[in-house]
Amino acid sequence: MNDVAQDARRIRIVSRWSLPVVLVVWASGSAGCPASTGVVEPVEPVEPAEPVEPAEPVEPVEPVEPVEPVEPAEPVEPAEPVEEEPGFRGGDDVALLAVLCGAAPVRWERNPRGTTISFRLTFADGSQAAYKPDQTIGHSNWESEVAAYRLSRRLGIHRVPPSCVRRATRDELTGAEGVTPDFRRRLGDSVLFDADGTVVGMAMHWVPDLRGGEEYASDGDWPAWLAQGNRIPPERREDAAALSDMVLLDWLTLNTDRWTGGNVRRAGGTEGPLVFIDNAAGFGAASGEARVWTYFRWAQRFRRATVERLRALDDAALEALLSDVLTVEQLDGLRRRRDRALERIEELARQFGEANVLFFD
Ligand SMILES: Nc1ncnc2c1ncn2[C@@H]1O[C@H](COP(=O)(O)OP(=O)(O)O)[C@@H](O)[C@H]1O
Ligand SMILES: [Mg+2]
Repeated sequence: MNDVAQDARRIRIVSRWSLPVVLVVWASGSAGCPASTGVVEPVEPVEPAEPVEPAEPVEPVEPVEPVEPVEPAEPVEPAEPVEEEPGFRGGDDVALLAVLCGAAPVRWERNPRGTTISFRLTFADGSQAAYKPDQTIGHSNWESEVAAYRLSRRLGIHRVPPSCVRRATRDELTGAEGVTPDFRRRLGDSVLFDADGTVVGMAMHWVPDLRGGEEYASDGDWPAWLAQGNRIPPERREDAAALSDMVLLDWLTLNTDRWTGGNVRRAGGTEGPLVFIDNAAGFGAASGEARVWTYFRWAQRFRRATVERLRALDDAALEALLSDVLTVEQLDGLRRRRDRALERIEELARQFGEANVLFFD
């Protein structure tokens, strides 16, 4: 990312104090919305209120000091039931995000794996996070991790570990366990601290049972599973659907780093779900598109639900979902790639028939 983009991003990126607000607003807004809508529903005209039954007197849980004289309470509408679909690995993303970016870590460690600067955080409840601060290393864009997660969630893919925007202090990073003098120098050279000694970055749910190694490489049998007319071994059908989601997501996010090693993994045992980690190389220069397009073009079969959700992801929805983490140029690129992906899928549907293209349930 060039300096201008960095600056634009840093100006736009929230100050440390607005972070909890961002998290709460996002978690209760875009993250909490049913991912299938993608479009803001016009507000229903408010019905004249039904006469309200007098509320049961509520027992105060603890005696509360009245701060100001309390206005007589308005009758409270019952909360809308939140239509929340299962998130990453069928779990509750909103709960994970609340810890990831709302709780204070009890431990900071350097993550010695990978090629970029990253850390591992541990929280009081025992859960952990990968942490990547804003850094000069071109293929480590923390905002790309967050954008890939939010997009995957909105598309119903649920295979990118939840992540959110989190600030760190210089002391947290330099004082982390495992930081050697050499690594401390590297932090000084490469981490983009702000003048106040903090740095923006992202915290990602640490998958506790991530299997080592790599499940699929850029060669192998799987591209053939995504081509028309080919047989998919029944025990690989779920992987095939996941991989079609992945090449679509990588195209949308312009992820040029999917196949450099260890980024397509399985969680749990040998039959556990595929998960896509290290989405940090996305949203870079448009010159990377040719390569990512090649992988995307392998796919002639998609998950129907993913494509339907992508169709619903209009410009306003994308803006609402990602404008706090992506620059205007990055968002423009994403819109363009969404359009190209949908055109390509339409073209395939004309050629092979929609049922053969929206092949995976
Ligand atoms: N969310 C995660 N859950 C579990 N392990 C992770 C997670 N993210 C990263 N790791 C571990 O850290 C390594 C490096 O992380 P990665 O995101 O690939 O960074 P890099 O960009 O430096 O390659 C991974 O190969 C994996 O072993
Ligand atoms: Mg990696």
